[in-house]
Amino acid sequence: MEWVREFYSRSGSWWGGAEARLTERDHRRVDLLRAHASPEGRILELGSGYGSTAVAAALAGYVVTAVEVSDRADFTAGLAQDLAAGCLTVHKADFYEVQLDQRFDAVCYWNGFGVGSDADQRRLLRRIGSEWLRPGGTALIDVFNPFVWAGWDGNEEHRMPNAAAGYDHELRERVRFDPVTCTVVDTWWEPADPDHPISQTLRCYAPADLMLLLDGTGLFLTGIAVGDDVVSVSPHSGMSSLLREQYEYLAVVTAVADS
Ligand SMILES: C[S@@+](CC[C@H](N)C(=O)[O-])C[C@H]1O[C@@H](n2cnc3c(N)ncnc32)[C@H](O)[C@@H]1O
Repeated sequence: MEWVREFYSRSGSWWGGAEARLTERDHRRVDLLRAHASPEGRILELGSGYGSTAVAAALAGYVVTAVEVSDRADFTAGLAQDLAAGCLTVHKADFYEVQLDQRFDAVCYWNGFGVGSDADQRRLLRRIGSEWLRPGGTALIDVFNPFVWAGWDGNEEHRMPNAAAGYDHELRERVRFDPVTCTVVDTWWEPADPDHPISQTLRCYAPADLMLLLDGTGLFLTGIAVGDDVVSVSPHSGMSSLLREQYEYLAVVTAVADS
């Protein structure tokens, strides 16, 4: 998965100037963490990107460990200047390889799960369940929603620079959705450099598929948050937000408690 480091480092160099800052989204994620995972304690954030949510969680009183493989991790120190020593530790590392010598009250992975094969996803889920979460602890994982991404197949965008907002690059994007493998291929390139596009490939899982994926990992899907609605994992009909609106949903996943 060498594309991961390359895609998120290069796109981070395009967008970091605009996006490496704390926003309402980060505070909303901390609210979700408090409501659905753990009101306090030690948390692990996987794929932390620029680190804005990790910093927001540390400001809210959590002791945060963040793992990010790409150069986006280099932005985090600039956001963390007001934090007290010891409340945020960043590992610029691959979460399939990093060794962490502690357990956490909660694990979160915002806007990133689905990179690699199903076997890779299971490997990560097993690490979350058996190495990182304390028994009975909860993980919050954003999962890409196939119902919405499928409808975006073939979409193209042309983004002009917006220097006032910190976006300095003219970019094109094309989205393809493969209905056989249930993956999005999201490709970006600079019109001035069309021979060097970069793509991210994202496996999408409907909630029912996520439950199959979790089988045998020691983790269980206990709820999903779709937009502002939190619903149980039971039959639902007419859920237009999941069918047509939200490109990801938040899976609330709990580790088996010690007996
Ligand atoms: C779509 S970005 C989201 C970043 C951040 N969570 C946010 O919501 O702004 C996904 C992030 O996961 C990171 N990532 C993907 N695979 C990783 C891995 N194996 N180890 C560490 N980070 C990884 C990527 O580098 C990228 O920064």
